[in-house]
Amino acid sequence: MTRNRPPVPSLKGQDAFKTDKDVSTNQSPCFSEILEARVSRRDTLRGGLGLAATTIFAGAGLSACDSSSSGSSGGTGGGAASLNFQSVPGSSADAVTVADGYETQVLIPWGTPLNGSMPAFTTDGMGSTNSAADQALQIGANHDGMTYFPLSQSAPSDAGLLVVNHEYSNPTLFPGGARTVDSNGAPTVPDEVRKDMNAHGVSVVEIARDANGMVSLVGGSGFNRRITLNTPMRLSGPAAGSEFTVTAYDNSGMTTRGTVNNCGRGFTPWGTYLTCEENIQGYFITTEANPPRSKDRMGMSATGFGYLWRNVAGDPSEVNGEFARFDTTPSGASAMDDYRNESNCFGWIVEIDPFNPDSNPVKRTAMGRFKHEGCEPGRVVDGQPIAFYMGDDERFDYFYKFVTADAYNADRPNPNMLDNGTLYVARFDEDGTGEWLPLTFGEGPLVSPLFSSQADVLVNARSAADALGATPMDRPEWSTTDPNTGEIYLTLTNNTARDPGDENAANPRADNSHGHIIRMAEMDDNPAATGFSWDLFVFGSNANADPSFNLSGLTLDNEFGSPDGLWFDRRGVLWIQTDNGAPLDSDSNDQMLAVIPAELAGDRTVNPDTQASLRRFFVGPAGCEVTGVDMTPDYKTMFVNIQHPGENWPDGGSSVPRSGTVVVRRTDGGEIGLGSNSQTTAQAVSRRDLFKRFA
Ligand code: FEO
Ligand code: CA
Ligand code: CA
Repeated sequence: MTRNRPPVPSLKGQDAFKTDKDVSTNQSPCFSEILEARVSRRDTLRGGLGLAATTIFAGAGLSACDSSSSGSSGGTGGGAASLNFQSVPGSSADAVTVADGYETQVLIPWGTPLNGSMPAFTTDGMGSTNSAADQALQIGANHDGMTYFPLSQSAPSDAGLLVVNHEYSNPTLFPGGARTVDSNGAPTVPDEVRKDMNAHGVSVVEIARDANGMVSLVGGSGFNRRITLNTPMRLSGPAAGSEFTVTAYDNSGMTTRGTVNNCGRGFTPWGTYLTCEENIQGYFITTEANPPRSKDRMGMSATGFGYLWRNVAGDPSEVNGEFARFDTTPSGASAMDDYRNESNCFGWIVEIDPFNPDSNPVKRTAMGRFKHEGCEPGRVVDGQPIAFYMGDDERFDYFYKFVTADAYNADRPNPNMLDNGTLYVARFDEDGTGEWLPLTFGEGPLVSPLFSSQADVLVNARSAADALGATPMDRPEWSTTDPNTGEIYLTLTNNTARDPGDENAANPRADNSHGHIIRMAEMDDNPAATGFSWDLFVFGSNANADPSFNLSGLTLDNEFGSPDGLWFDRRGVLWIQTDNGAPLDSDSNDQMLAVIPAELAGDRTVNPDTQASLRRFFVGPAGCEVTGVDMTPDYKTMFVNIQHPGENWPDGGSSVPRSGTVVVRRTDGGEIGLGSNSQTTAQAVSRRDLFKRFA
């Protein structure tokens, strides 16, 4: 492997992985019991019906585990999965590898001009030489969550809008591959700070597919739009206009500027995109000795990830506190005079209407403020409320759902459905059941003096969930819904900070370097249910790890670590993406795998026959994260995002690495992932039906 430039430093602030592969020595003594409980519940989960009847471990805490119990991974072999490709080997190449019979092209890498030609992406060989104004007209950095919206009824797969998150920025944003900084490492050039802000946010672009399956940006389309840290936005829901969102920018607390650290994504059945604000503590700083819980519980510090944009505050060119707002330390007489509350305007789910380029994005405060990862709806049924499921990506943080107060009306959707409803957080019990605990002011512990209002509960959702006794998880990332069963799947990317004995049934490995995937079924298949059943689906591992760690029997053909992006296509194929994968025996870069859970036998747990069921489809270039995936409604074009490639992808030679979207198609033009005559394809729900536009 050629390394002719140093790896791109990351500002993501995520934890480092444990690097030793011998993970067999630090196991919970209770695996066998947990696994046994999992297997015992398979019939309940198969039907997706209600709570488990089994009480095998009801009332038996982990301390009651008997170390003489025999372990079992359960199941009797994978069923006949009908994925139409074979696993590709792990790869450490600085290139995209995809299954035999498939081909790829690169679309909209960072710096691509929205109008198709100007301002062109320019570099000095180490970093971009474009200006801040240029960047505002170009694709942003570090692609992440993404959704494809068909544009026409007649040819929904040939013309659409691709909406892409841009999570953070690298020093390659600047000439020489470095920010201009002072001796403290803080930026000194206001236009560089503006460029940094313009590289964040979201891109909306129109794309078109030709007869050969090639996809291109429609340069100059009226839909093409950049949403950045400077885009005006509206706050809505219970925290809008509250004492918590008053700033010097808007004394009414109803508006703010921009969105940041846009990580996972969601979508609504009325055709809007949801972008998820994750690590806001990387950007907003405070030097308060005793910051309020709205800052402290979000991990805010005096330095954040080191962006330190407030360092150029007071520059004569500064407009309306555009830099000062990133320091939330109180400095004025009241919240109306400073930016002490600015960070309360971030950490939300933000709804964007991609079909209306003049619309202001809306921050939906009813859905809670935390480090949002994804926001995919459960199964959408006309006449029922909709549940949106949301991970909070932090070690020992929680999994939430928001249930709309209104029932969904497919013919006339209420575009403000996300303003009214109930936010819940999950408690996973050892017997394979669980409870959704409401974050409702006035109920349970969420009363005075702990909380003063629903706005307080929502701004401080993490603190409210703490008080409710939610289950601390191993970094909840994306969740997605099986269209065949309605079950919700959730990635828990990793957590190596649990002390032995601090495991829980849903997070059973103390040293969880490789993460796992859990799934749940709402009681009575009801999105508003307060009870659910749950099961463990697959454990990440390197292939050669001790079986007590490699609990799903992964092989070199499907070993993976740190599952993150997760998406069921409408046929029922589950796509799993990885981030900064813990060490694998194949030394592979990050990747994307596929499995069809509905076609697995037995308890559908991925078992030692996984090669038949879980297959590696795609490996990204060196140093990257694979995150963000969608397909056209005909399943013939797939979009996969490559974030922070570490060497020279995609331009090669000694070029600056650029995040970008990879378009994948079958060389014979057929359906991706499944044969065209497969059962699941026949059951598929067209995205045309899924996305009904409101008038
Ligand atoms: Fe931005 Fe949790 O990944
Ligand atoms: Ca992620
Ligand atoms: Ca991640």
